[in-house]
Amino acid sequence: MDSIYIIFYFISSILFILGIKMLSSPATARRGNFISFLGMIIAVTTTLLIVNYNLRSIIFIASGIFSGGIIGLIFAKKVQMTSMPQMVAIFNGLGGLASSLIAFSEIIKSDTTISLNIISVSILISILIGSVTFSGSITGFLKLQSIITGKPILIPLRNYLNFILLISIIALMITSFFFVEYTFLFYILISSCLLLGILIVLPIGGADMPVVIALLNSYSGIVAAFTGFIFGNIALIISGSLIGASGLILTRIMTKAMNRSLANVVLGGFGATTETSNQEVSDKTYKSGSSDDVASILEYSEKIIIVPGYGLAVAQAQHSIKELLDILVKQGKNVIFAIHPVAGRMPGHMNVLLAESNIDYELLLDLDQVNEKFSQTDVSIIIGANDVVNPAAKLDESSPIYGMPILDVEKSKSIVVIKRSMNPGFAGLDNDIFYNEKTIMFFGDAKNSIDSLTKSFKELN
Ligand code: TAP
Repeated sequence: MDSIYIIFYFISSILFILGIKMLSSPATARRGNFISFLGMIIAVTTTLLIVNYNLRSIIFIASGIFSGGIIGLIFAKKVQMTSMPQMVAIFNGLGGLASSLIAFSEIIKSDTTISLNIISVSILISILIGSVTFSGSITGFLKLQSIITGKPILIPLRNYLNFILLISIIALMITSFFFVEYTFLFYILISSCLLLGILIVLPIGGADMPVVIALLNSYSGIVAAFTGFIFGNIALIISGSLIGASGLILTRIMTKAMNRSLANVVLGGFGATTETSNQEVSDKTYKSGSSDDVASILEYSEKIIIVPGYGLAVAQAQHSIKELLDILVKQGKNVIFAIHPVAGRMPGHMNVLLAESNIDYELLLDLDQVNEKFSQTDVSIIIGANDVVNPAAKLDESSPIYGMPILDVEKSKSIVVIKRSMNPGFAGLDNDIFYNEKTIMFFGDAKNSIDSLTKSFKELN
């Protein structure tokens, strides 16, 4: 009977695993979220009512859950989809801070020396990773929110400095084993870890930040797992490990799709030199057309692929594209969407955006599924996308994006590009697709352009 809590922790862990599995498809993601939420309720209730029953702490914790829940709800309702990475950054950061504070409170509680065992090692690692996650995430938030510059801040010899700081932190951790009565050592330790988090994230460019946020998310899971070791809480160890592992997998997927190594992202500096290439003006020629021109191309097309990118998100054109989609489908056209894994600026950006306007998930095909379809497509409409369709990734070995998998739009019979100018995208590179003889540039803000295209198409029918 004493170990009944293990059964409840086991059930909650199964619910976490099921929940994460269901998050992998937009069709089941909502249910997955709810199932994980149930798992969390079971885990928290078990801890409070069975494992550590104490009425006074329950009142404290319940009021914390209630007020934190209300604040979280308000933020979640208000946040714009394009600001989601900032919100995740704050949540990660607070998770790291919580774990770090819990570990620190364990040190303050014990006035004897801490011996070298799994618990004391977990306490010190929780302080290290928790503090780095907190200050790193808050720095990431400030960059993404443009409160400080989003450009890489390159301190000379920064990698050496960070290395020396890390070594000093490890030395301080070892020292603290022997002098636990000197609490000030722990204050120095925490301050150094906070400084390390800031220094690690400062050189990373704002647009690389979603990758770093995914990595910090994974750290917040790892630190939660260590906190689980401190208290011997199996549910915390399992849920923390799940977050740690899924965050790492997500980081890997993103860096692979951007054709960057994790070291290249984390060591920073990417984007610091692309400013000049942004200014480059190409003397190659291109064709441009009006909404009426594009409407007549659509009129004669049977198979259409829409390629959404960052510009679609910025323009908030998801509802406009749904309206156009409905009209095209009504006219018997076969329309699908090509979703590149790093289109936009955050994982699953396009899926989430298009789901917002109730576009059927079945119509969203990922890179592997859709690439073979371009050669049988009458027209590909690229909306606010650039790098993810840049053939330089396949053809130009000197290109920074060489090797990045891209959508093979150039194989379709004709191409329409909707964007505001000939300016490059995130990687700061010119794109030969714009000068392809099959391509028509349709200049303008994505939302306004799609609305006028829909109007022109309606007039034709
Ligand atoms: P980008 O290559 O960044 O190109 C976006 C294009 O949208 C720009 O060329 C811009 O051209 C256009 N645009 C901007 N605002 C617009 C508006 N209001 N209306 C119409 N067009 C607009 O985007 P992509 O093709 O989606 O590629 C994503 C890039 O971000 C990749 O390089 C990827 O590696 C990187 N990245 C992605 C992620 C994730 S996880 N998704 C994370 C970090 C970095 P104009 O200014 O001419 O309009």
